[in-house]
Formats: sequence, structure tokens, C-alpha cells
Amino acid sequence: MRLPPALKALLAQLAGWAVAIGLLRAGLLPGQAWALVLAQAIAAVSAAVALRSAPWWRWIHAGFTPLAALALQLGLHPAWYLAAFALLALVYWSSFRTQVPLFLSNPATAAAVAQLVPPGHSARVLDLGSGTGALLRPLARLRPDCRLEGMESAPAPYLLSRLLSRRHPNIALARGDFWQIPWTDYDLIYAFLSPVPMPEVWRKACAELRPGALLVSNSFPVEGIEPDDIIHVADRRGTRLYCYHPAGPLPPDGRAVGSPVGLLP
Ligand SMILES: C[S@@+](CC[C@H](N)C(=O)[O-])C[C@H]1O[C@@H](n2cnc3c(N)ncnc32)[C@H](O)[C@@H]1O
Repeated sequence: MRLPPALKALLAQLAGWAVAIGLLRAGLLPGQAWALVLAQAIAAVSAAVALRSAPWWRWIHAGFTPLAALALQLGLHPAWYLAAFALLALVYWSSFRTQVPLFLSNPATAAAVAQLVPPGHSARVLDLGSGTGALLRPLARLRPDCRLEGMESAPAPYLLSRLLSRRHPNIALARGDFWQIPWTDYDLIYAFLSPVPMPEVWRKACAELRPGALLVSNSFPVEGIEPDDIIHVADRRGTRLYCYHPAGPLPPDGRAVGSPVGLLP
């Protein structure tokens, strides 16, 4: 069903309540709060399955009402809920719409990316959604010759990345939407996003990148496109880097001044 995930979640919760209250009114549930809460959770999970929500939503629906009931029992001050909501909103920002949550690249991945730029080439790198700068900082240490740029939309990770990157003169960070900036001048675009935006990432990369420029996607391949290379990072999560030349490799005479460096020729 082609409904936004947040709308599916709302529908699943409402369906859960409709079923639970219906069962209570029909006398099919004991008149205790725990029975109502349990029935609501089970019905909400079933509705999420029927709506074909992503698997992790089942866990969220299973826990949502029981945890809300538990929190009510604890009698917490309402300000705590507001503070928790504000904090999560600042960290995850538009994840509910973009379907790209915050998770971080590890140093082993940064080391693998550093090797994609041939020694002696000062490449210009863009991290799409740079988060806390977890990729860019180790990369900056390994490749002080490269110019590393990051664009991040969520305020909290962005502020943290500014703070943590202040001693790296070759890192430039901006807050904003990476769809709104041209990718034309970059030699390497790094994406650690989710499967959802990858078709659009591919379209924009094909339209804007120059021959020889490299698109590297951590963990999420572009469906239907054969990568030019897959790098297996020796880390615990078995990270794979899918490498593409969206505009093709660098032409033989392409190393003129102003052209990209021709990564992974
Ligand atoms: C999985 S995290 C990766 C963080 C970082 N690149 C790393 O590798 O450690 C993806 C980040 O992309 C950000 N993001 C998603 N869509 C975005 C957009 N259109 N413009 C800017 N940032 C975006 C999210 O807020 C999130 O912080």
C-alpha cells in the first residue's frame, strides 16, 4: 500500500484501539486495563502487518501502548515527555519523511574510503547527510590533502559535527538539504542513507556528476544497477561499500586542470 509510513503507523494504532474497545464492549475482554492494553498492542501489530509496514514497526506497535501505560503509572511530570520529544526531534528531524535515520560510519569505513582517492590527488568529497561527522573526521586525519564537505539537515547532529570538527581545517560543514545543492564539482559522493532515497540519489548523480566521479554507497546498493566495485570493509558489521561511476569513467584525456581526479579508473 503506497501510504507514507507515519500515516500507516497512525492507522495501525487507531485500528488497535478500535479492535480493543470493540472486544471490551462485546464482553470478550476482562474489564482490566492490562487486557485492554494487550489487546490494543496485538491488534496494532496485526494492522501494521496487514498494511505492509516495514518489519521494525511491529516492535514499535507492540511496545507503544504498553510503555505509554507504564509511563502513566510512573506519574512522570509532562515536561519530561516534552523534553524527550524535543530531543528526539532535534536528532532525527525529518527522518519520518526521508526514511533516513541517524546511524554512523565507523573508522574502518573511513579508512576504506580514504583509499579510494589515489595518493597525491586532492579530491573534493561530499558526505550526503553528514550526521555527527563520524565519516569526515577520520577521513580528514587520513587525507589532509582532500577537501571534505558535509551537508546535514538535522540540527543536533549538525551542531555536534561542527563542534567536533573545529580542529580540522579541511572539513566544511553546512546545514541544509543535499537535494538542493549541485553535486557537479565533487570527485567523490558518499552516501550512508537507506534503500528509500537510493533511486533518487542515482538519478541526481547521473545528471550532475562528471565522468570519473565516484558515488560510494555504504550498505545500500542502487537497485538494478551493477556496481563498478564492491569493497568489503574488515569491520564487525561486514560493511560493504558499493562504488559507481554514474557518468562513466574518466576519458583518457580527462586529467586536464579542473576535471575530477578519476577515482577507481
Ligand atoms: C545514516 S546517517 C549517516 C551519517 C554520516 N554520513 C555517517 O556516515 O556517519 C544519515 C544522515 O542523513 C541525514 N539526511 C537525510 N536526508 C537528508 C537530506 N535530504 N539533507 C541533509 N541531510 C539528510 C539524516 O539526518 C542523517 O543524519
